[in-house]
Formats: sequence, structure tokens, C-alpha cells
Amino acid sequence: MTDETDPQTAIDAQGERRRADLDDRIREYSAGDDQKGIPFVGAGPGDPGLLTVTGTELLEDADLVVHAGSLVNSEVLEAYCDDAELVNSIGKDLEELIPLMRDAYEDGDSVVRLHSGDPAIYGAALEQMDALEHEDVPTYLVPGVTSAFAASASLRTQLTLNEVANHVAFTRPQGKTLSAEEDHISEFVGMGDVTTCIYLGTHAVGETMDRLLEDGHEPETPVAVVYHASWPDEDVIVGTIATIGDRLAEAGHRASAMVIVGEAVTGAGYERSFLYGDWATRGSQD
Ligand SMILES: C[S@@+](CC[C@H](N)C(=O)[O-])C[C@H]1O[C@@H](n2cnc3c(N)ncnc32)[C@H](O)[C@@H]1O
Repeated sequence: MTDETDPQTAIDAQGERRRADLDDRIREYSAGDDQKGIPFVGAGPGDPGLLTVTGTELLEDADLVVHAGSLVNSEVLEAYCDDAELVNSIGKDLEELIPLMRDAYEDGDSVVRLHSGDPAIYGAALEQMDALEHEDVPTYLVPGVTSAFAASASLRTQLTLNEVANHVAFTRPQGKTLSAEEDHISEFVGMGDVTTCIYLGTHAVGETMDRLLEDGHEPETPVAVVYHASWPDEDVIVGTIATIGDRLAEAGHRASAMVIVGEAVTGAGYERSFLYGDWATRGSQD
């Protein structure tokens, strides 16, 4: 690739453009509209039934699907990608991925970039979209069901619950990407009424819980680890800040799980909402 098409140059240029002006397409289209270009599709959490109708149609029409490897349930590919060439993006850098998608698109192929869950959550989609747009290949997003939502469905709970869980945080623990200062899990848990959904943290649950205990958080706070939510081999492990590390070690999962911390895990102790209380009958009285 020349310097002109170097992904970092493209990302910087697109960032400048975005800062200067709103993309006209933001007002022209909304998610779900027919659009031109390469769609960045959320595959959902795993169950092929949880892919959107738009995502399904795009996969069925695709000539080339670039997918996120083991993060995407192969059942989704088997169900909808009969006619497409499949390329696993894991282990490929932008320098390889961008020309691959650009050339196929310019040759007239229908190209789909398939991300796990929703591309907007820890998906690194925007850098690929910026690099493609910089090369005059239009792109757009098709949302998917993020794994935190699949995990809450598996737990048969809500992530927000009146009085118990008034907020939700999507976060990840410190590690190669985040420094200790950038890790805010302890702050979210300390707020008390936040359901903390930890992505990319399965391998580090023990250390994360140890840090919460060191910071003085209530050891009995409920924690769930939902491995492969909505996959056939889904595994739900429930415990507390004090116990979940050992329980997860016994189960042996080191990746691909959603960790949820907070009272919403059990769904206990919430207050009845106004929606189906006083507000429901407001104005209906003679
Ligand atoms: C690179 S991030 C991608 C997240 C994805 N974009 C989403 O919206 O779910 C990968 C992390 O998402 C979580 N994850 C993805 N699919 C999952 C599933 N089916 N069940 C539980 N966690 C999942 C895990 O924490 C995993 O480490």
C-alpha cells in the first residue's frame, strides 16, 4: 500500500473530516435503510435466530463474507452464507483486510463484513470503515444483538431494574489495551446501582474480583459469567465477587464469556415500576 492508502493516514484524515462536518448520510439514512457500499453487520451473539432480518438478507446475497473467526458462531455462516466465499479476519491486519474488501467491492462483488454481537461494541469496525471510505468505498453499519443482551436473556433478568440497577456500564478490564488507570470496573461497581457488563475479561475474572475485594466492595455482590451466550454449548456460572473466580476456574472457560456484576444478576429486590402502576391509569379516569 502507498502512504496515501496507509490505514493510519486514512483514519487520521477521516477523523479530521468528521470533526469538521457531519456526514450527509447521517441525515439521509438510518440503520435498516437500503444503502450503498460494504455493510458492517452485527452477527449477534451466536444463535442464528438472533441475527437481524437485514443482516440475514445481506449474508444470503453476499459474494464475500469477511467474518470475525471463532467469535462468530459457525452456525450463522452455515445457515446464511451458502453462496459466499468466507474469509476469517483473525490474524489479518488492516493492510491485508482493506485491499481484500476494496478489490472485491470494486470488482462488483457484494461484500459483507461480519462482526460478532454488535459492531459498535469493542468491534474495531470504525477503523476499517474509515480506511475503506478513504479509498472511496462507502460503508455502513447494520446493528446486531450485543452479547450483554444475550447474557441477560440467558439469566432471565433485566440489566436495568427499578431502584436496584438504574444504569448499565459496558466495560473491559485492564490488560494489554487498558492501563490500570483506565480500568473503571471498581468505580462502576462502587456506584451501587450500576449493572457492570465486562467484555473481553473471561481470562482475568479472578484478578478482577481480587481487585474489587481489595477496593472494599461487598464480597456478596452477585456476579454471573455467561460463556457463549445463545450458543448450543452456553454455560452459566453464578456466584459472588468472593466466589466466582474459583467457580469459573472449575468450569475452565478462559474466553468468550460475558461477566455481569450487580444485583441485576439475580433480579431480586427491585421496586415495581411507575410504567405499569400509577402512570398506566393516569388520564384514563373520568
Ligand atoms: C471483541 S469483543 C466483541 C463484542 C461484540 N461486538 C458484542 O457486541 O458482543 C469479544 C467479547 O465479547 C464477549 N462475547 C462475545 N460473544 C459472546 C457470547 N456469545 N457470550 C458471551 N460473551 C460474548 C466476550 O466477553 C468476548 O471476550
